[in-house]
Amino acid sequence: MSLLGRLLYQSRKFYDDDFDWNTYTADSYERRIVGDIEANFQAVAEQDQLKFNAATGTLEVQGRDLHPNHQLVLEAIGRLQAKSVHEIGCGGGDHVANGKTVFPDVTYTGGDRGQTQLDLAQQRHPHLAGSLMLQDITMPLSRHWPRAELIYSQAVLMHIHTAVSHFVGLANMVNSSDRFVLLMENYQCHNFIADIQALQKGGHFDWPEMFIHRFDGSTGARAILLARDKQDLPELTSDAQIREGLKPSDRRLKRSNEDSARGLFGPAG
Ligand SMILES: C[S@@+](CC[C@H](N)C(=O)[O-])C[C@H]1O[C@@H](n2cnc3c(N)ncnc32)[C@H](O)[C@@H]1O
Repeated sequence: MSLLGRLLYQSRKFYDDDFDWNTYTADSYERRIVGDIEANFQAVAEQDQLKFNAATGTLEVQGRDLHPNHQLVLEAIGRLQAKSVHEIGCGGGDHVANGKTVFPDVTYTGGDRGQTQLDLAQQRHPHLAGSLMLQDITMPLSRHWPRAELIYSQAVLMHIHTAVSHFVGLANMVNSSDRFVLLMENYQCHNFIADIQALQKGGHFDWPEMFIHRFDGSTGARAILLARDKQDLPELTSDAQIREGLKPSDRRLKRSNEDSARGLFGPAG
């Protein structure tokens, strides 16, 4: 290789996730739970503070409000009547804890690739021991991972930008789920709809059919819902639809396009 070639090779771009997940809790996560979530919202609710109202499809909250994104996840579980739920990137475990409080009959588990995040979850919710596990959703699919009717992520895939990892994560989520995948993410951090469509067309999902819907929570949050069967919900066919009304971030949109461009998909079936 020429000298110029070697210099260019050394300066080639490496893509990386937003955080070092091994040190994330100490670096920023624990501080953000206290400063951003606990300071403004109810992070963990007691038994009598949350109740899902099946007639209205909404979560009734006593005391301080839940963060709208966290409320949406619980409303999705109730409205979709999922009997088993698994959270990808469960972090400090608050959503698993709240979910178990609202839906005691649902089998509810969580996985995270960061041991220090799981240690934090264990500290915050000792009763979750046995429900949380070490799991890297960007590894090849493991038959030891839990299957569930609903698999969801909240603020996880949006931070994954290493090579083609977010595609692997998306495919693993669908292929571990029996009915639904819910993505509660920042929709400018990836071209989620285009990437899902490309994975589907390329044969990376086990589901014979997939319907991509918009799911709205009752307090203003929106999510992407992938469903094996068509739901009575608005269908999404483009990223523009899920981004409608959001203030564009040029930096994020540029990186999303770079991330999408690294995908090399199976031939169309
Ligand atoms: C921004 S935090 C969100 C945590 C939690 N969902 C919440 O809302 O508090 C992102 C979480 O995703 C986890 N994570 C990142 N990459 C992952 C992967 N490949 N597989 C599983 N978890 C991952 C991190 O360790 C971290 O706990």
